[in-house]
Amino acid sequence: MSSSPNKLKVHALVWQDRQLSVLDQRQLPEQVHYDNFATAPEVAEAIKSMRVRGAPAIGIAAAYAVALSVQQHYAADNTEWRQQVAADITILAASRPTAVNLFWALSVMQEKLALMTGSPVINMINTALEIHQQDIAANQYMGEIGADILADAQGLLTHCNAGALATGGYGTALGVIRSAQKRKARDIFAGETRPWLQGARLTVWELAEDNIPATLIADSAAAMLMQSGKIDWIIVGADRIAANGDVANKIGTYSLAVLAKHHGVKMMVVAPVSTIDFAMPNGRQIEIEQRAASEFLPDYYAQENSLIDAWNPVFDVTPAELINVIVTERGAVFNPFEQGVSELK
Ligand code: MRU
Repeated sequence: MSSSPNKLKVHALVWQDRQLSVLDQRQLPEQVHYDNFATAPEVAEAIKSMRVRGAPAIGIAAAYAVALSVQQHYAADNTEWRQQVAADITILAASRPTAVNLFWALSVMQEKLALMTGSPVINMINTALEIHQQDIAANQYMGEIGADILADAQGLLTHCNAGALATGGYGTALGVIRSAQKRKARDIFAGETRPWLQGARLTVWELAEDNIPATLIADSAAAMLMQSGKIDWIIVGADRIAANGDVANKIGTYSLAVLAKHHGVKMMVVAPVSTIDFAMPNGRQIEIEQRAASEFLPDYYAQENSLIDAWNPVFDVTPAELINVIVTERGAVFNPFEQGVSELK
């Protein structure tokens, strides 16, 4: 199952010929390889195995997966199709726990399915396409808002990959960096993002594809980089933002926020409103995904009776008081610890 849609300008997800083409991000930067999926369980597996990753991209993939499910099961003589789609939605909801965009997209699709008139297949495909397009538009708008806030700031550090690969296109944190870079050249640093190396494999690749120079750092070099005075802002995305402004994002974000406070560096979080979980009062209740030890435990220790295991939480929660601004397509909330983000609802 493989093909190469469109010449690459970084598309994580492409809907074509009534299938979903997913760029396999596990193979980047060496290989640009797309898999085509025609069923929802296949897309759930692509999310679980991180062929597609990044909160908004996970949500968009799930929306297309619901459309695929309706396309597969809907038939005038199939009285069970709604139950079959519901079963697929349950499988999708179990694919990854932390990014709320997944659950947001599934509930948008479910609501639409419950209320729609006309052809369910066309309706669901159009709703997924709309979710995808709206995400790109939101990113572009957030890019401008974020670039206004950065003004003349020179040194920018990002973490993980919150770019076109992690979204419908353009990116959240990387969208702001793209927009800021169009206004004037900045010094852009990317943390490698252990253990999965989203920064080293995806972010710098994406920047290079866009002709934006960047410097990769080991995560452990961040403190020294800040101490050197070369960084004005840290700019990251989010997987789930609680109502009080606490932010779950890629493991290591919290460390960067603590370091930023110590060094007088500012912290910007960029995320669409679909990343805000208004029902979650604070970050303490956010489920943090734990992934396999094998993501970084050397094979040597993976034998039976080994005394060595690994602890691999892949997100952490940054308290709102360590964040200077949260940028969304509905505007920016400065000092979110004061009032939270409920005003964006
Ligand atoms: O485990 P991942 O690669 O899905 O984690 C991604 C992140 O933590 C991103 O920073 C976040 O989803 C925002 S992407 C716009």
